[in-house]
Amino acid sequence: MVHDAVRVVRLDNPPVNALGQSLRSAVVEGIAAANSDPTVRAIVLSGTDKAFSAGADITEFGTPLSTAKPDFPEMLASLENSPKPVVAAVAGVCMGGGLELALAAHARVARPDARIALPEITLGVIPGAGGTQRLPRALPADEALDMILNGKARTAADLKDTGLFDAVDENVIEAAKALAEDLAEGKRHAVLLRDRGPDNAALGAAVARMRGEPGLRQATVAALDAVEAAADRPFDDGLALEHRLFAQLETSDDAKALRHAFFAERALSKPEGSAPKGGAVERVGIVGSGTMGRGIAISVAKAGIEVTMVDLDADALSTAREMIKASLVRDVEKSRVPAEKLDQILGRLGYAQGLDALASSDLIIEAVFEDMDVKLKVFSDLERICRPEAVLASNTSMLDIDRIAASTANPGRVVGLHFFSPANIMRLLEVVRGTATSTATLATAVAFARRIGKVPVIAGNCHGFIGNRMLEAYLDRAFTLIEEGVSPYAIDKALEDWGMAMGPFRILDLAGNDVSYSVRKTRKAMYPHVYISPLGEIMYLAGRLGQKSGGGWYDYGPDAPKGRPSPDVEALLKKERLTITRPQRTCAPNDIISELISALAREGTHILAEGHAASSSDIDIVYLYGYGFPRYRGGPMYYCMTHGLT
Ligand code: 3HC
Ligand code: NAI
Repeated sequence: MVHDAVRVVRLDNPPVNALGQSLRSAVVEGIAAANSDPTVRAIVLSGTDKAFSAGADITEFGTPLSTAKPDFPEMLASLENSPKPVVAAVAGVCMGGGLELALAAHARVARPDARIALPEITLGVIPGAGGTQRLPRALPADEALDMILNGKARTAADLKDTGLFDAVDENVIEAAKALAEDLAEGKRHAVLLRDRGPDNAALGAAVARMRGEPGLRQATVAALDAVEAAADRPFDDGLALEHRLFAQLETSDDAKALRHAFFAERALSKPEGSAPKGGAVERVGIVGSGTMGRGIAISVAKAGIEVTMVDLDADALSTAREMIKASLVRDVEKSRVPAEKLDQILGRLGYAQGLDALASSDLIIEAVFEDMDVKLKVFSDLERICRPEAVLASNTSMLDIDRIAASTANPGRVVGLHFFSPANIMRLLEVVRGTATSTATLATAVAFARRIGKVPVIAGNCHGFIGNRMLEAYLDRAFTLIEEGVSPYAIDKALEDWGMAMGPFRILDLAGNDVSYSVRKTRKAMYPHVYISPLGEIMYLAGRLGQKSGGGWYDYGPDAPKGRPSPDVEALLKKERLTITRPQRTCAPNDIISELISALAREGTHILAEGHAASSSDIDIVYLYGYGFPRYRGGPMYYCMTHGLT
C-alpha cells in the first residue's frame, strides 16, 4: 500500500486543541471525508507538536455549547464506527477529552514525551467521554483508577509497558501511518477498547479500597461509581452512567469554583513591561542563611540557577549547608529529584561570609532578620557592591519596601519578593511593587519567579501586602469571636471541616504567638483607632508561644504532636472574658465560617480599592497557594461573591 493511502486528519485549534464544538465538528467531518474517499484506506488522527488535545473546551462548560452537536459521544462514535482503521498519533499534551478521543481510536501511537492525563477531577467533574470506561480496559486497574482520581499527568514513556499505546515512538506520525497501513492490510488486528473486558475483580477491589478514604468530594465519589460500573455493567450502561454523572457535576459548586481557580491562575496580572534584554537571572545572591534563605536557595538551585548564600554568622552558614544537603537528599529518597541531579544541584550552591561575594549576581534576595535597621544597612552595602543592573529584592513579610528602596541611590531596582515558608515547597510568591520599582525590575522579578516554579502575584506595598494583611483581619475576627464566648477549638474545627488546611489558632501556634504579638504591637502603633484584642498579648505573656514552647492555643507533646485542646487555655479565656465583657453568644459552625471568610474578603476588597491587588482573582490565588484555602471553594473573594457574603 502506498503511504498516500493513509489520510492524516490533523487537529488544529491553537493553542491546545481544546475540543470545542467547532473542532468536534471538524473531527467528524475529517473522518467522514476520509471514509468517503476511495483512495484512502486508513486514517491517522494527529494534533500539533505541542498538543494532541487538552480536552473539552472548559470555557463551554455550563453553556449550551458544551453539548452542542456534534457532541463528544457523536465524535467518538465517528472513530469507533469508522469502517477504515483510525490510529491516534499522540504528541504533546493529551488530556481529558483529548485522551478519551485517542481511546476511541482503533489503535494509538505516542511520542515518548507526550503528557497523558485525565485531569477532570481537578475541575470538579469526571471524565465525561468514556474515560472511566475505556481507560480501565486499557490499563491495569490500579493505574487506571489512580489516573482518574488524581488527574496527574504521566509521560507516554512511563506508560510504555501498560498496553495503553500500541507503540511509543519519536517519529510518531510515521509510526502511526505504518501501523494504520498494517491494520488496513490485515497484517495486524486491533480490538476497540469498548470490546475488551477490564479486570473486573481487580477494579472492584481498587474501587472498594478508595471508598474507605475519608473526606471524599462529590466528584471523587462519582468517579468511583462510574469506574465500578466499568467492572460490573455492560460497556454502554457504564457509559450512560458516566454521562449522567458528568452532567450533574458540570454545574456543581465545586466544579464552578475549580474552574474559577483554573482561569484565575491563567489570568494572573502580568507586569506591563518586559524583562530587559540581558536581564536574565543566571546568578542569584541570598543574604541570610536562616529558615527562609535556605528554602529560597533550594528552589533557585533546583531551577538550574547558581546561588551564592551569604551570612555574617559562620555557624549559621555551615548549618545551612548541612540542612540544604539533607533536604535535597530527602528529595532524592522520595523520588522528587533524580539521584543523578543531586551533585549538579549541590554544585550550584556556594557559601560566603561577606557581601563582596555577590558582586557578579544578577538578583540578590535579602532574607535577614525582620528588622528595618538591619535591612537598611544590608541594602546600602549591596548598592555599593553589586552591579548597577542587578535587581535587589527583600523577602520582608511586613516592612515598607519604599523605605528600604529609599536607602539606595536607584530605588527603581528594588522590589519585594515575599516567599512563604517552607520556601522550597510553597508556590506562592508575592512580588511587591514599591512606588519606585521600575517596570523592568518588576518584569525581571516575575519572570524569575516563574522560572523557579512559583506562582507570582503582584502586590502593592501596604502593611502585610495582600496575604498577611488579610490574615490579620481574619485573626482579628477570630479573636473577637473568642471574646464573645466561642471556643478557639470550635473555630478551628469549623474551618478545618470546611476545608481550610489549618484553623487560625493552629496557624498562630505554628508561626509562634511571639511573632504574632510583635506584628499586632506594630499594627497597634500604626493604626491606634483599630481595636486589637488583648488575647494575643495575654497568650504571649503567659509564655504560650506555640509549637516551639510545647504549648500555645493547644498543648503539644510526644502523644499529641498535632496538639490537643488545652484546659489551661480554656481556664485563662474564661477569666479574661470576664474582664472584656462582650455580650456572650453561641455560634454555629456555618456562622463561624461566614464571619471569618467574610472578614478575609472585606479586607481583600479594601486592598483592591486601594490598588494593592490587580484583581479579585489575584487575591484568590494568594489564598489558594499561600494559605491552604480549599481550591474547591475558589478563594475568599470568589466564595463571598457567589454566596452573597459581605
Ligand atoms: N479548554 C479551554 N481552554 C484551555 C484548555 C481547555 N481544556 N486548556 C488550556 N486552555 C487555554 C488556557 O486557558 C490558556 O488560555 P490563555 O492563553 O487565554 O490564558 C491557553 O489555553 C494555554 O494554556 P496554559 O497557559 O495553561 O498553557 P500550558 O502550556 O502552561 O499548559 C495544559 C497546557 C497542560 C494543557 C494546561 O492548559 C491544562 O492543564 N489545561 C487543562 C487540561 C484539562 O483539564 N483538560 C480536561 C478538560 S475537561 C474534559 O476534557 C471533559 C471531558 O472528559 C468530556
Ligand atoms: P532567621 O532568623 O531564620 O534567619 C536570618 C538569618 O540572617 C540568620 O542566619 C542571620 O545570621 C542572618 N543575618 C542577620 N543579619 C545579617 C546580615 N547583616 N548579613 C548577613 N546575614 C545576616 O529568619 P527567617 O525566618 O529566615 O526570616 C528572614 C526574613 O524572611 C525576615 O525578613 C522574615 O520576616 C521573612 N519571612 C519569614 C518567614 C518565615 O516564616 N520565617 C515567611 C516569610 C518571610
